Amino acid sequence: MEIIVVEKSPPLKGNVRVNGAKNSALPILAASLLGTEDIILEDVPKIKDVEIMCEVLRSLGAKVEVLDEGLIKINSKDLNNHITRYDLMNKMRASLLVMGPLLTRLGKTKSSLPGGCAIGTRPIDLHLKGFKALGATVETEHGNIGAYAERLIGDKIYLDFPSVGATENIMMAAAMAKGETIIDNAAMEPEIVDLQNFLNKLGANIKGAGTSTIKIKGVEKLGGASHQIIPDRIEAGTFMVAAAITGGDVVVDNVITSHIKPVIAKLKEAGVEIIENGESVRVIGSNKLKAVDVKTLPYPGFPTDMAAQFMALLTVCEGTSVVIETVFENRFMHVDELKRMGADIKIDGKSAIIRGIDNLTGAQVKASDLRAGAALILAGLIADGSTEIDNIHHIDRGYVDIEGRFRQLGAKISRRTIE
Ligand code: UD1
Repeated sequence: MEIIVVEKSPPLKGNVRVNGAKNSALPILAASLLGTEDIILEDVPKIKDVEIMCEVLRSLGAKVEVLDEGLIKINSKDLNNHITRYDLMNKMRASLLVMGPLLTRLGKTKSSLPGGCAIGTRPIDLHLKGFKALGATVETEHGNIGAYAERLIGDKIYLDFPSVGATENIMMAAAMAKGETIIDNAAMEPEIVDLQNFLNKLGANIKGAGTSTIKIKGVEKLGGASHQIIPDRIEAGTFMVAAAITGGDVVVDNVITSHIKPVIAKLKEAGVEIIENGESVRVIGSNKLKAVDVKTLPYPGFPTDMAAQFMALLTVCEGTSVVIETVFENRFMHVDELKRMGADIKIDGKSAIIRGIDNLTGAQVKASDLRAGAALILAGLIADGSTEIDNIHHIDRGYVDIEGRFRQLGAKISRRTIE
């Protein structure tokens, strides 16, 4: 079994480059099933979730080749299977994103209910509502979901909640439907815009991504394209908090600052100095940071995927902070682990109340999900002594060589294999 060991580290210093976004790469890889010519993707992060998605695509009949670091070539001309394997679906919830493309290209799709991070019940009703609105028959039996339609037909779809995955799945299904589809109350995340740009390069006709109304005029066929994945705003935010929590001075490169406005705003409110310079952000921490309140919301609100890392910072800010989680249930699983490190946190429903303390102490802790794992690394950087993090497969799902990149900034962090 592998663990990550973090020792109390000096203030982080230096430059770090952000990789392509996991949450853009996964839907774009799924969308590659729609094109019948060669597709080249650049800046695809080398993470476990991408490996799983490539495996999913191969299992469906697509050719997937890793040409170079971050460079993947896909050809889905001979797509020949509409069933997503249970073991792959169970490993990663995002495997669900192949359903829309399969339904529109092959007229059928079948998979088991998805797995993924244990951060709430995470139903898929909105995805299915979308498929049904486009005329598909949806059947659930023995833990499998199937959707069938000879040809999807465009319609108006109102999402009860701006679900990222449902918006993406419906966009992909509608890209080759007959007529026009309008998604209202669509998710507005930058990754949705990236998906729109990619689909349009393949020949789709989609407008409005980034706003709450997306219009998709269905086309008969999609081809090939080259596309560069946008930078990962959550990875950027994680390194920014690392600089802040250690009182360091770090330049985070390859950042689209307009994508991380709430993280920048909240760090500034806490007393962190941030200097934006084109595609770089310099983050200068201080040992006198103050408490701030954070409420997670769909984009452009504060991202739920940054709440755990931010909470790690708030454990040592002066005063009392409140973090309210509105997007997922059950996303406070890291709280007990931070408490093992001495943090003073109380949970009250969707709120966590954090009383800042002088310092944390190293402990043996468990990563309960991807971002919780990142939060424990951040806490470990300032905790007295040594922090041993278990269950690190969660961290590997979404961060490229996390310990190598932290080490490059001066952190004392390593990976060890234990019995
Ligand atoms: C995506 C991101 C994830 C991020 C999340 C919210 C990817 C691969 N993952 O996940 O990192 O934390 O957006 O920003 O992009 N819901 C329903 N019914 C549905 C679908 C969702 O009720 O059919 C609920 C979920 O239970 C959750 C909320 O909507 O409470 C948000 O989920 P959603 O936006 O769909 O997240 P994902 O696409 O799964």
